[in-house]
This record gives sequence, C-alpha cells and structure tokens, in this order.
Amino acid sequence: MKKTTLLTIMALATLGLSGCGGNDEFKPTDGMPVNDLFAQACASCHGENGSGKFGFLLKIAGSEDAIEDMAQKIRDGGHIMPAFVNISQSEAISIATYVKGQ
Ligand code: HEC
Repeated sequence: MKKTTLLTIMALATLGLSGCGGNDEFKPTDGMPVNDLFAQACASCHGENGSGKFGFLLKIAGSEDAIEDMAQKIRDGGHIMPAFVNISQSEAISIATYVKGQ
C-alpha cells in the first residue's frame, strides 16, 4: 500500500512538474496585445499582471531582472516553467518589458 502511494506521488511529480516538454499549446495570434499575451500565457502561474499567487508566490511584476534574461526565460523555460516555443523573441521582449512595468 505504501509503495503504491509513493509510486503515485512520483508519477504525478514527473507528469506535473517537469518543464522539459515545453508549452507548444499556446500560440499567439498576429498583433495580439501584450496584456492579452500575458493573461493567456503567464497569468495562470504568475497571477494577474504578474502580481503572483496570493500576492507573493511567483511574483514577477516589477522584476529587477534584465529584459533579455526574462525573454530568454520565456523562450527556454525553467526547472518547472514550460518553454514557450511559439512566442517569438520580439514578443518575449514585449512581454518582459510589460512585466517590468507592472
Ligand atoms: C506552468 C506555470 C508557469 C507559466 C505558465 C509561466 N511560468 Fe514563469 N515561472 C514558473 C515557475 C515555477 C518559475 C520559477 C521556477 C522555474 O524557473 O521554473 C518561473 C519563473 C519565471 C521567471 C523568473 C523569475 C525570477 O525571479 O527569476 C520569469 C521572468 C517568468 N517566470 C516569466 C514568465 C512569463 C513572462 C510567462 C508567460 C510567457 C511565464 N513565466 C509563464 C511557472 C510558470
């Protein structure tokens, strides 16, 4: 019984937490406003306008990170964060600029 529970947890962790797959489901439409891009691609994890969940978890609004670093994070993903393979470099730069300005 205990072994089964452990296996279940491991399976869930592998499925739910791995960022390796990347996010190829999100496809921005041409000329999509940056606030819509953010709302659709990022807000589910980073909260409305990047203000974080519960006000602090994964808060990125007003980040001190360099725009280039944030854009790279969007396109390459992180340990958990998926890579947004359909977001172009210029869209990533706009999103990063938007996030910093929040
Ligand atoms: C599935 C949830 C998820 C989504 C969707 C997501 N992120 Fe993340 N993001 C994370 C997690 C978790 C971290 C921190 C750990 C890591 O690197 O994976 C993170 C980290 C970041 C960081 C680095 C924060 C720091 O303090 O160094 C930035 C910048 C960022 N995300 C921006 C974005 C942007 C912009 C989008 C939308 C294009 C986005 N994220 C979409 C989960 C997500």
